[in-house]
Amino acid sequence: MRKSAFAEGERFMMEEKQMFVNDKVRIGVIGVGSRGRGIVKTVLGIDHACVTVICDLYEDRVADSVKRAEEIQGFAPRGTTNWRELLTADDVDAILVLCAWEPHIEMAIASMKAGKPVGVEVGGAYSIDDCWRLVHTYEETGTPCMLLENCCYGRMELLVANMVKQGLFGDVVHCEGGYRHDLRSEIAFGKENRHYRLRNYLSRCCENYPTHELGPIAQLLGINRGNRMVYLTSMASSAMGMHEYVKNTPTADQGLLDKTFAQGDVVTTCIKCAGGQTITLTLDTTLPRAYSRQYTVQGTRGMYMEDNQSIYLDTDHGEKMHFNWQPNWNNAKDVYLEKYEHPIWKKFLTDGVRGGHGGMDYLVYNEFVQAVYENKPMPIDVYDMAAWMCISTLSEESIQKGSAPVAIPDFTNGRWVLHNAD
Ligand SMILES: NC(=O)c1ccc[n+]([C@@H]2O[C@H](COP(=O)([O-])OP(=O)(O)OC[C@H]3O[C@@H](n4cnc5c(N)ncnc54)[C@H](O)[C@@H]3O)[C@@H](O)[C@H]2O)c1
Repeated sequence: MRKSAFAEGERFMMEEKQMFVNDKVRIGVIGVGSRGRGIVKTVLGIDHACVTVICDLYEDRVADSVKRAEEIQGFAPRGTTNWRELLTADDVDAILVLCAWEPHIEMAIASMKAGKPVGVEVGGAYSIDDCWRLVHTYEETGTPCMLLENCCYGRMELLVANMVKQGLFGDVVHCEGGYRHDLRSEIAFGKENRHYRLRNYLSRCCENYPTHELGPIAQLLGINRGNRMVYLTSMASSAMGMHEYVKNTPTADQGLLDKTFAQGDVVTTCIKCAGGQTITLTLDTTLPRAYSRQYTVQGTRGMYMEDNQSIYLDTDHGEKMHFNWQPNWNNAKDVYLEKYEHPIWKKFLTDGVRGGHGGMDYLVYNEFVQAVYENKPMPIDVYDMAAWMCISTLSEESIQKGSAPVAIPDFTNGRWVLHNAD
């Protein structure tokens, strides 16, 4: 169990474990678009979970997910288009926020105030004020809140975390990560598919999706637990990819050719940590490219490179091999995985891997449900959530100021130092 950045993290937990009706956490879901629709099924495969209310702005989406949930769990959840109904619902023990990015923090805050533990899908923050309100609401209410960052449970991310913990990489000095995903069709067909990304790409220019890569890196570097991110600088390229795509895709909304996309095609953000480490994040979603989270970890004794799935260690390879490296591509899986598989994945393989995104979805949602069920602290808490999500709004500010350095708030108010000797 990872410790909360809050020194007395458990002081807010309830005195006694709550008894759940039929031994199940009754979940209310907000947002059943493409993500929420699939996650309802994932959640219904988890022990001690059932879904009692489903909410979306669109009635057709509510009806579809209610029907699918009924087929799986044997009874139909109630449907609603008003998310606030979940806050006072007697048959909702916990809330999942799986909707478009913009209201995530508002919904998390309202859920905590209503005393309902809340899990929130990934995205970036729109203001630093929102991040502080998130943290203060948690401190005032003690209601658990978790960012549902599935990539923190990626098999390779956890393999590397395990190897770093065992000292095989020496001291970690630099990490890289990216969200490098060709989303041109998702954005261009946003109006037709009622998808939120289009309006964001027309309106903002920032590192709008930092947590897939930053989450595992922050955990590796002990951010909020003996380390913290101190400042960043961010730079955006021009925005040309979407116009080219729309121009060459007659079925896409040709009206977009008259619009200006604010979001640069590639946004590069550099972060400096109190422990001296640097982190580079790359958002790259509107040019043709192969998918990559570009996860890279460099220490004084070795490194991991996601893009060729390889691990380079002083002990195993030595300096002479660095020029002729291609024969070692994929050695992370072929050579190291069996020996250094993370315990979470060892257990998952034994129990049976299930759920989307190679199993990561099941793992992160299961952590949330079991934390609620057992009254345990959330493994990715509000301090992580605020620190990771704030990168979006800070990168926006840095870009607007010509890549000026921007300070990253310490949402733990100094408590990150308390874990420095752990
Ligand atoms: N972790 C992952 O791997 C992963 C993958 C895909 C999406 N996501 C995340 O999931 C979330 C949803 O993404 P998506 O692709 O499903 O988007 P989507 O646009 O397909 O669906 C979002 C849904 O939210 C609903 N919604 C918006 N505001 C609402 C409100 N106020 N009340 C109720 N419903 C509301 C919309 O009507 C829509 O149906 C985002 O945060 C996204 O970043 C995560």
